[in-house]
Amino acid sequence: DEQVRVAVIPGDGIGTEVMEPTLGILEAVGRRHGIDFAWQHHDWSCEHYTRTGRMMPEDGLEQLAEADQILLGAVGYPGVPDHVSLWGLLIPIRRAFKQYINLRPVRLLPGIECPLRLKEGTEIDFLVVRENNEGEYSEVGGRMYRGTPDEFAVQESVFTRRGVERAARYALDLAASRRGSLASATKSNGIIHTMPFWDEVVHETAKDYPGVEVRDYHIDALSAQFVLDPGRFDVVVASNLFGDILTDLGAAIIGSIGIAPSGNLNPEGEHPSMFEPVHGSAPDIAGQGIANPLGQIWAASMMLDHMGHPQAAAELVSAMEATLTGGVRTPDLGGTASTTEVAEAVLQQVGSDD
Ligand code: NAD
Ligand code: IPM
Ligand code: MN
Repeated sequence: DEQVRVAVIPGDGIGTEVMEPTLGILEAVGRRHGIDFAWQHHDWSCEHYTRTGRMMPEDGLEQLAEADQILLGAVGYPGVPDHVSLWGLLIPIRRAFKQYINLRPVRLLPGIECPLRLKEGTEIDFLVVRENNEGEYSEVGGRMYRGTPDEFAVQESVFTRRGVERAARYALDLAASRRGSLASATKSNGIIHTMPFWDEVVHETAKDYPGVEVRDYHIDALSAQFVLDPGRFDVVVASNLFGDILTDLGAAIIGSIGIAPSGNLNPEGEHPSMFEPVHGSAPDIAGQGIANPLGQIWAASMMLDHMGHPQAAAELVSAMEATLTGGVRTPDLGGTASTTEVAEAVLQQVGSDD
């Protein structure tokens, strides 16, 4: 069997609830495909922070570097400020391992009723390529004159030619392999330095892809089109913050933030990639056993795909679809099933055609 070392960070809140059953499901898929998972469990979380003063140990990134892939639940919990929990774990991992692509599929699965009134025949099936290492998520800036009337905060966005180009190229490659259409999220009508640069680099890169039609959308208008005409999109490329916002919206139009998956990819494979749901730790429903596990499970399927097992990945998605069409759904999708019941149904489907 092929041995795969996977670092597992369940994190906080519902992160732990959706991770646990996902590992059993992966083991079942692995058995059918000759993949032997060696889990490396890490309890890094806000709870770890309150115990030790750190979200992860000082050598946490070095430990993770030993893994082939990383599975993450979600981090963030009331009592620990979000900038502490996220900049102490999630963001350093994305950056240290040059996971510069955040790939987020937006596909309406059979068995889920779309919350939109779609035109007859519309299919929602597109990919958002979110730039994942730079842009609006920069540490350049500061806060001054705290507590005085002159107090202010500044944060610079940093876009590099290399960073924009590699995101654009990744998205263009995907579009070339799909329906040949790329939507680029911009705001060059209102953001005068970074966004015209983004547009320029995207279009220069696109010259290598004569078969792909590139269209720029201002982010505000693009958001409206996600709701009004999502069927028009094939691949969407966006900066870090724009991509973040668009993908919660993308999750909403396919039924729930609880099902959307995300792959933080290091495309060259020189470092581990990280797979997680799009959603967070959901403190409002944590501990109730009702979190939808499908976002985590779909993310696990993306991991299989990235590992070079497209067949195993497809089987896992089919098992999710069969579960949904069978009516086993958590409350966020209008059902009454628990996290465990949905996960059990997926597990049964995974083994069902033996
Ligand atoms: P959230 O995604 O955690 O929750 C938003 C809403 O969606 C909540 O009402 C929640 O109950 C619901 N929801 C989320 N996942 C669900 C699931 N699987 N099933 C059913 N319902 C689900 O976003 P938030 O409330 O903005 O953030 C909560 C915490 O999570 C914060 O600390 C935030 O920083 C953190 N966060 C972490 C990550 C991550 O680790 N990658 C991502 C987003 C937010
Ligand atoms: C996501 C999350 C993170 C992000 C937060 C928690 C920092 O919202 O993965 O979408 O903005 O990237
Ligand atoms: Mn987000």
